[in-house]
Amino acid sequence: MEQYAINGGNPLVGEVEIGGAKNAALPILAASLMTDESVLIDNMPDVRDTNILLEALQGIGVQVERLDRHTVRTHGAFVNSLVVEGDSVKKIRGSYYFLGALLGKYREATVVLPGGCDIGCRAIDQHIKGFKALGAEVTIAHGMITARTQHLAGSHIYLDVASVGATINIMMAAVLADGRTIIENAAKEPHVVDLANFLNSMGANIKGAGTDVVRIRGVEKLHRTEYTIIPDQIEAGTYMFAAAATGGDITVKNVIPKHLESVSAKLTEIGCRVQEADDIVRVVAGPLHHTHVKTFFYPGFPTDMQPQIVVTLGLAQGTSIVTESVFENRFRYVEALVRMGASIRVEGNTAIIDGISRYTGASINAPDLRAGAALVIAALAAEGFSSVDDIRYIERGYEDFHLKLQKLGAQIAKVDSERELQKFKLKIS
Ligand code: EPU
Repeated sequence: MEQYAINGGNPLVGEVEIGGAKNAALPILAASLMTDESVLIDNMPDVRDTNILLEALQGIGVQVERLDRHTVRTHGAFVNSLVVEGDSVKKIRGSYYFLGALLGKYREATVVLPGGCDIGCRAIDQHIKGFKALGAEVTIAHGMITARTQHLAGSHIYLDVASVGATINIMMAAVLADGRTIIENAAKEPHVVDLANFLNSMGANIKGAGTDVVRIRGVEKLHRTEYTIIPDQIEAGTYMFAAAATGGDITVKNVIPKHLESVSAKLTEIGCRVQEADDIVRVVAGPLHHTHVKTFFYPGFPTDMQPQIVVTLGLAQGTSIVTESVFENRFRYVEALVRMGASIRVEGNTAIIDGISRYTGASINAPDLRAGAALVIAALAAEGFSSVDDIRYIERGYEDFHLKLQKLGAQIAKVDSERELQKFKLKIS
């Protein structure tokens, strides 16, 4: 079983290039099937979740050509099945984007109920409410969800929660519905805007993405496009916290600094120096102070950065309080952090953190994608050797994670046998 072997204690210093946003890539890939013409997508991250989605596209007949590691061409004229299933797709959250895409184009879709990281109950009631409002009949049976209709018609939908997934799914179906759709209390995350820009580049008529109210006027069909995915703000933020936690100095390149404002603000507040220029953000660590953080929908502090800031605040002077308000089960990694010496108590959706001066290495497991990355940062900041198991979770969303960290001076290796692990230990001793 592959794991990371890490010898911590070195400040991470240098530059790191950020890839395309996974959470934009997933809906964009699904939406690419909505035209019968070819779609060229650039800055596609080469991570497990996007690769599973590409396989799923091929599985229903979409032609997929990988022109290079980060460029993909799809052709949606040859879709031969409206059923998306299989063990891999079941494991990723993004598979539910086939519902909106297929329902919009073919008025019917059956998709295996989505999985994804175990961070909470992750309801899909708002997606279903949206599809029903557009005139679809939605049924769930045998672990599959089906949405179908003869007539997809625009509607006025008020979301009870500003859900990223529901906003995206409804938007996709609505672009090819008859008439006008209004989504109120829509999610405003950058990847929602990126999908809207992508669909608009194919001839859709979406206005207001990035605000609370998205207005969509249905069009008859979509056409070919060439599109570049936005940089991944969560990947960028992860390296920014890696700088802070290891006492380092990291320049993250190819980012949109605006998307990182809440992260930059918190890093400044806790004592780091953050410099921004065009598509670059540099974080220089300082002595870390405590703070309070509450995760929230964009532009609030992202839930996907919560484990990374907790790991950092675990090393900050004083008592910090972090409240998770988006997912109810996102503190599972704290147990591993406590094994590394952290002084953290979780009460309901709040973590109370008494900062310590240094973690110590331990054998730990990645419980999910973002927590896994955060634990790797903890291990890099820690004194001595750590191993991080279950790294398949991390590889769902971070391209070349260990290689990028190595370039920043980290002593980290991906090993897949006891022999390789011992070799790493010998090298560092
Ligand atoms: N919710 C409902 N009903 C719904 C949909 C959501 O109650 O129908 C609730 C959820 O239970 C949750 C909140 O609304 O409490 C937010 O969920 P949302 O739908 O916004 O999240 P998601 O679409 O399931 C995406 C990302 C997550 C990211 C969240 C929040 C993808 C594939 N996943 O999930 O990314 O945490 O938005 O920004 O885009 C990750 O990348 O590690 C990750 C977990």
